[in-house]
Amino acid sequence: MANTVLIGAQWGDEGKGKVIDVLSNKVDIVARFQGGNNAGHTVKIGDEKYVLHLVPSGILHKGKKCIIGNGLVVDPIGLLSEMDELKEKGIDCKGRLFISDRATLVCPYHKALDAFRESGRGRKIGTTKRGIGPAYGDKIIRTALRMGDMLDKSFAKELGARIDCANAQLKAGGAQLLNKASIIKEYTKAAKRLAPYITDTITILNNAERKGKSILFEGAQGTMLDIDFGTYPYVTSSNATSGGACTGTGVPPNRIDQVIGVIKCYTTRVGEGPFPTELLDATGEQLRTEGGEFGATTGRPRRCGWFDAVVARYSAMISGVDYWAMTKLDVLDNQKTIKVCVAYQCDGKRLDTIPASSAMLARCKPIYKSIAGWNTSTKEVTRYKDLPPKAKKYVEYLCKITGVKLGILSVGAKRESTLRIAL
Ligand code: IMP
Repeated sequence: MANTVLIGAQWGDEGKGKVIDVLSNKVDIVARFQGGNNAGHTVKIGDEKYVLHLVPSGILHKGKKCIIGNGLVVDPIGLLSEMDELKEKGIDCKGRLFISDRATLVCPYHKALDAFRESGRGRKIGTTKRGIGPAYGDKIIRTALRMGDMLDKSFAKELGARIDCANAQLKAGGAQLLNKASIIKEYTKAAKRLAPYITDTITILNNAERKGKSILFEGAQGTMLDIDFGTYPYVTSSNATSGGACTGTGVPPNRIDQVIGVIKCYTTRVGEGPFPTELLDATGEQLRTEGGEFGATTGRPRRCGWFDAVVARYSAMISGVDYWAMTKLDVLDNQKTIKVCVAYQCDGKRLDTIPASSAMLARCKPIYKSIAGWNTSTKEVTRYKDLPPKAKKYVEYLCKITGVKLGILSVGAKRESTLRIAL
């Protein structure tokens, strides 16, 4: 397969883990490019369920190399427990996982500050409380430690100085202070364990690419959570759109051949922020139950709503999406009528794009087109041509109004439920 960037086209949780798992067979390397362990990529293989937060889903495929790129924020304790869990299930990361020495380190004070800000003393974003925002914040203001710093003899001293600084902030806010000695002990121990994995991933990736190896760039979260293009400030702190693949791995744009957007056949969102097609009624509840819409990282119930074509078109435009990987069509099996938002009505005007202001987006009312449901189970379908005609019509309508071709369609959690159309 050509070098491919895979991104989430909505508010995350589109089913990227599953699509990456299916595509991993066709590439040599899978490289994550942004985010941290706020992500939760679920993959079901047989009866075994894997939830990956930092390790790329490609690790589940024998022999594939996996990269944690420079664009990530890495919680070393979370990463080690993920690696240990994989080992228990017979998957060894040794020689297959490479962590960028330029990736940003997430420290306990980032999590403490994240929780503190979320506790009502500031604007509540509804974060995963994994310290993502504060860690990226430190990167941007140039006070962060990076994975490579863990290997330096000054690490304990540098970490200690930052804990002192965070404790001063927490003290001023009346929050609980962090135990400096125990953090330093835990982190220096983690540094020793991670040392064999921390390396120059930029050179590894570019050398491999020059030798003709193919790379799958794994995005986390989604367009509407992107720090620049999402529903700011109700976003995550990284670039979840395709541009992030270059800055988050060091592979230049002219080495990327195609972009796949993963998109659910309806919409979900976790956390605060505007969501025009949200359903606060029994239909929303039904989508949540039938779609198992509970966060893979935090277990929070996801907000559910109809497919929003304004979001999908915007996402396709920003990331240059060549193909959709549409997921969870089966969740709509029991709907008599399905609605699709084709534009918004806002302050007396029709809007065909996403406004920059979240306050304005919150005032947007969807303009819907109703489509007949198929009222048949699609869960066991393994070939596109065997889908009920009305289900095909729905999918084809979504492709038509978004101007993107269908590459993959998923009708269930299992690997076999992923129908390959053009990829
Ligand atoms: P943070 O990334 O933990 O700072 O959270 C910021 C926002 O992004 C919150 O609304 C989270 O619920 C959302 N978010 C972060 N990661 C994910 C994800 O993997 N899936 C869905 N939402 C996410």
